[in-house]
Amino acid sequence: MELIIGFLHIAIAITLLTTSQAAEPSQIRLLRPRFGSGGRRVEGLDCLSWRLAVETNNLRSWKVVPQSCEDYVGNYMLGRQYRRDIEVVAEAAVEYAKSVQVAGDGKDLWVFDIDETSLSNLPYYARSDVQFGSQRRILNLNQAGYYNWEKLILKGENDHGSSVDYKSQRRTELVNEGYRIVGNIGDQWSDLIGTNVGNRTFKVPDPMYYIG
Ligand SMILES: *[C@@H]1O[C@H](CO)[C@@H](O)[C@H](O)[C@H]1NC(C)=O
Repeated sequence: MELIIGFLHIAIAITLLTTSQAAEPSQIRLLRPRFGSGGRRVEGLDCLSWRLAVETNNLRSWKVVPQSCEDYVGNYMLGRQYRRDIEVVAEAAVEYAKSVQVAGDGKDLWVFDIDETSLSNLPYYARSDVQFGSQRRILNLNQAGYYNWEKLILKGENDHGSSVDYKSQRRTELVNEGYRIVGNIGDQWSDLIGTNVGNRTFKVPDPMYYIG
């Protein structure tokens, strides 16, 4: 992502969603590495098919990973496939970003979701005392190499409503300020649907939780 920023000199907005869902113990548990089962078909549910349905937004509003797929998802997240899947998305985004003709007025903008997109919270899910404070995020962003962003938009405790609505409203504000959203990347479909989603969207895999 740094590459995109450096190459195009485009303005960047980072949207952040803070939800209690992200830190729920029920989701923390499933991320512990389990290398027992290996098999994909457990108790009649094909976990690869489940994950595909999740990624394509055919399955929505699910609360937790099906119990019979916990091992599968844990292995997926901690193994090579997740990283490969992300790489393909990132490469496609970079290729697209290179092709964009920016106006040079600082108004061409790329929206990055933070959790599980710009930053991986995987190391923290294994712990129960996770703090998802704003200060920690900024620190983590800096550690990951993000320093220059146009706006850092944080969803506060008083921001109610769905993620789709919240993010749509924030993007619409940006567009009303004269920004042009050329690209948008996130791990949740709610990052990528709604209004003013941008010229192109990129979905990062996330079979861990659903935010609608
Ligand atoms: C984005 O979409 C708008 C509206 O269709 C179009 O005018 C503009 O050229 C597009 N920008 C890029 C970078 O593709």
